[in-house]
Amino acid sequence: MIKVLTIIGARPQIIKAAAISRAIKNKFVDKIKEIIVHTGQHYDKNMSEVFFEELGIPRPDYNLNVGSGKHGKQTAKMIEGIEELLLKEKPNYIILYGDTNSTLAGAVAASKLNIPIVHIEAGLRSFNRKMPEEVNRVVCDHLSTLLFSPTVTGYKNLMNEGLNEMNKSPFTPEQPGYFHCGDIMYDNSLYFSELAKNKSKILEDNGLISKEYILSTIHRDHNTDIYDNLRSIFNALIEISKTNKIILPLHPRTKKVLEQMKHKELFERIKENNILLIPPVSFLDMISLEKNALMVITDSGGVQKEAYFFKNPCIILRPETEWVEIVDTGNAFLCGADYNEILNAFNFIINSGAGDYPKIFGDGKAAEFILKTLINNCPEAVL
Ligand code: UD1
Ligand code: UDP
Repeated sequence: MIKVLTIIGARPQIIKAAAISRAIKNKFVDKIKEIIVHTGQHYDKNMSEVFFEELGIPRPDYNLNVGSGKHGKQTAKMIEGIEELLLKEKPNYIILYGDTNSTLAGAVAASKLNIPIVHIEAGLRSFNRKMPEEVNRVVCDHLSTLLFSPTVTGYKNLMNEGLNEMNKSPFTPEQPGYFHCGDIMYDNSLYFSELAKNKSKILEDNGLISKEYILSTIHRDHNTDIYDNLRSIFNALIEISKTNKIILPLHPRTKKVLEQMKHKELFERIKENNILLIPPVSFLDMISLEKNALMVITDSGGVQKEAYFFKNPCIILRPETEWVEIVDTGNAFLCGADYNEILNAFNFIINSGAGDYPKIFGDGKAAEFILKTLINNCPEAVL
């Protein structure tokens, strides 16, 4: 039996973990035992708990309850907690998702104990080291033993950073194995899309009509914490809302910023306009909002990609993206926080026909591929 210890912490990681946990349960229950560790990076009910209930993810075996804080303090607390659990559980692998501080903490703790790191969503790059997530990804990738890239670009980025495609098993941190396997979030979106159809009532609850509203999310520190960027984005949304209703599930970071005195006037104007601010929603509700939207306006990594999965155009509120393919296909537009660029992209989308959405995120079976690879390459496993 192989023992894997999975680290989750932030909302998108909890959702991602559903794909791997489901594949273990359905296909590899006799070969893989999963221990789930929640760092507690996200802790509000609608940022964490709601996903376990809805997506059938096993309850975490441990919760480090680290909570919010500055990068150093938050990450340090996580490293300390994860180290203790790795020593206690002695897993064959640690599984890390994406690029959050929980990912970085898991990578640092495991690498010092020589526990092989499996990085899911490896190779993604924004080439912007001012993004905390870029630092986290680069560090995690270069400490990993098995790296799984969701896209061809991610795979090529790893080659460009010197990883050798010819490495052979047994893989090690010095000679890692890396694979292009498709996106586990594509697995999840296919799987949960059917459930969302039957279970989500979010459109009815908010008086929304399919294809007559725009979905928006905002939470990047670059947009929330830079005064001019936040104002410019919301002023563009206010302008757009004069012709199209916008629904915006508000990330707690953004809510806290908007409630500050310096943004009081802006917050009032947002509420007076056709912008529906609602608390963060469950994943099934989010899928339903994404599928039925006229377009998506977001700075989220996950949401821009899900817009693509559901064949919806997207305005990306960032100057660059790790998911370059969706921009290359002409379905997503990089606008940063620039008022004019956002409005230009909006008008362009409104005036153009439906785009082509080639399949670039795999076949919906990325999780299965990853688990098979773990089983086939586990040096100390007693199968
Ligand atoms: C984190 C990740 C980011 C990811 C995002 C997903 C890092 C560096 N960033 O950003 O990559 O895209 O999660 O949503 O790891 N807060 C609450 N309740 C919660 C969680 C957060 O109120 O349950 C508030 C706190 O004020 C906190 C702030 O949101 O300080 C930011 O939370 P944090 O986890 O530090 O960063 P995110 O912006 O959520
Ligand atoms: N999401 C959700 N409810 C929300 C907002 C987002 O379930 O109110 C989901 C979304 O569908 C995607 C993931 O959360 O799967 C993205 O998380 P987020 O935008 O917080 O982080 P990022 O992907 O940018 O790291």
